[in-house]
Amino acid sequence: MAAIPSQQILDSLNWRYATKVFDPAKKISSADWNALEESLILTPSSFGLQPWEFVLVENPSIREQLVKFSWNQRQVADASHLLVIAIRTDIDAKWVDHFVSRVEEIRGDQGAFTGYRDMMAGFVSNLDEDGVKQWAKLQTYIALGQFMTCAALMEIDACPMEGFVADQYDEILGFKDKNLTTAVLCPAGYRSDEDKYAHLPKVRFPKDQMISRI
Ligand SMILES: Cc1cc2nc3c(=O)[nH]c(=O)nc-3n(C[C@H](O)[C@H](O)[C@H](O)COP(=O)(O)O)c2cc1C
Repeated sequence: MAAIPSQQILDSLNWRYATKVFDPAKKISSADWNALEESLILTPSSFGLQPWEFVLVENPSIREQLVKFSWNQRQVADASHLLVIAIRTDIDAKWVDHFVSRVEEIRGDQGAFTGYRDMMAGFVSNLDEDGVKQWAKLQTYIALGQFMTCAALMEIDACPMEGFVADQYDEILGFKDKNLTTAVLCPAGYRSDEDKYAHLPKVRFPKDQMISRI
């Protein structure tokens, strides 16, 4: 597997921006979308517990309904795809056992794994409901970052979004019955020629202020 040249990665990261206006006519191909789904599945998580579900909202009328609960940001309706990253609200010792079964299925019986199972179960059991949510939400941002970077490398635009009303999303998407709650959104697709943000220079603090050496 050939390494991607570092300059090519930097070019992609400079090319990407939080897209404000998507071209509704331009759709991501199914092969490219499939690669982006794989990037979500391959996201690392604490203990490997994957406390999330990646939800694709495909129904156009539901996407239109979500606009007003997204601070009227039209990206949720206009982008080719709308990814909602949800966290599970039922992460407990049972979920740990579910994960352990999957490890055994893939890697074979792991007798020595019992101590690790107990450690993970102890960790999640020691968190209260808010603690579990906070921990799970931190994990979702790893998925968000991986998804956006992979999209940029494929010249697919995306917009990370926290500007939405989580309760309304949960209600509309039927999450309450599925032990899910909305963490963060990422519409993806192709920028519109009319998006003036596409041409603005990046605003970042100088590197020597942001990276220090001790
Ligand atoms: C977690 C997160 C939430 C964000 N929420 C929104 C949002 O709701 N709407 C939006 O237009 N941009 C949103 N942004 C985009 C940021 O404003 C943007 O990433 C930042 O200004 C840097 O610009 P750039 O991504 O274009 O380089 C969000 C970014 C992140 C990382």
